[in-house]
Amino acid sequence: MTATSSIAQRYTLLGIETSCDETAASVVRGHPDGTREILSNVVLSQLDAHRPYGGVVPEIAARAHVEQLDGIIAAAMAEAALDWSALDAVAATAGPGLIAGVMVGLVTGKAIAAARNLPLLAINHLEGHALSPRLSAEVAFPYLLLLVSGGHCQLLIVRGVGAYERLGTTLDDAIGEAFDKTAKMLDLPYPGGPSVEAAARTGNAGRFDLPRPMVGRDNCDFSFSGLKTAVLHTLGRLETVTDQDAADIAAAFQAAVCDVLADRTAKAIALFRAAHEDISPQLVIAGGVAANRAIARALSELCAETGVALTVPPLKLCTDNGAMIAWAGIERFALGLTDPLDVAPRARWPLAQSPN
Ligand code: KG4
Ligand code: ZN
Repeated sequence: MTATSSIAQRYTLLGIETSCDETAASVVRGHPDGTREILSNVVLSQLDAHRPYGGVVPEIAARAHVEQLDGIIAAAMAEAALDWSALDAVAATAGPGLIAGVMVGLVTGKAIAAARNLPLLAINHLEGHALSPRLSAEVAFPYLLLLVSGGHCQLLIVRGVGAYERLGTTLDDAIGEAFDKTAKMLDLPYPGGPSVEAAARTGNAGRFDLPRPMVGRDNCDFSFSGLKTAVLHTLGRLETVTDQDAADIAAAFQAAVCDVLADRTAKAIALFRAAHEDISPQLVIAGGVAANRAIARALSELCAETGVALTVPPLKLCTDNGAMIAWAGIERFALGLTDPLDVAPRARWPLAQSPN
């Protein structure tokens, strides 16, 4: 694998990710010629532990990270077939996310750094997502990023490592959260995103008319709570809810989300063009919701219409993983941006504020 290189020498990093419900560790190696190697990428999903509750329970997540992380790191090192002495540094997610889980990963990263005398990189989880496309493809700065996950829905211009301009964000629910809550209302199984997508495939998107919040607004923000309420009201008007009703509502919801994403992203493309007239825009999609085929199709149609190159990293790098944390660590380490061992975990940590 190659990508635009800014690395002067070969770096091998361990990356640790524990900010939500995935316990993950990975070893990534970056070479000065632009080659990147994912030597291991071990992800343990806690889906089954949270399924009975229909969502992520922070206390259960933290306990599972404590129980599993050592084994996941050992597995990542074993799969990479490397000794600790082969590592140049350790990178761990330091936020934003569920604070107890973040603490588990960061403290573990600090312990390894202290015991092995390695530099530490405290990584912003969002920076991990933002830089992840450069791990698997030739993506040069600046590019436009649409981050769509269970915790976020943002449009950003990624100008360089540590140089992010947030064009817009959600004013209420994250997009994955909207999928998950809609699934719950429709009595579809957890996790909601894939269930809504599957139900929508057999549904008629035109039967129910749902709103397109924020469409046409002169900014790049999102809002999903009104759409969620509209789903609730639509359900309330039905006497009984058949499987076909649920499929039709799922299809209408997904169609609304696709329209909203396409409209907001079109606005961001226009802003990118205004800021970088000489650069042909490249759009990158990251986050678990990028798995949705209808959304990917809507955005690829938009990109084709507007002459924008589209990159969707492999799904394993779109959802939460340790490789994106190791990679963000390499990009920062190459610039000398290491962190002290007393760096604090952060539940909230905006990657970039709005320009005004
Ligand atoms: O990025 P991710 O793995 O975790 C974080 O939230 O950071 O994203 C998980 C979210 C969940 O809300 C899940 O329902 C959603 O991504 N998701 C989907 C699909 N697959 C996962 N949403 C819509 N369609 C999908 N196929
Ligand atoms: Zn994430």
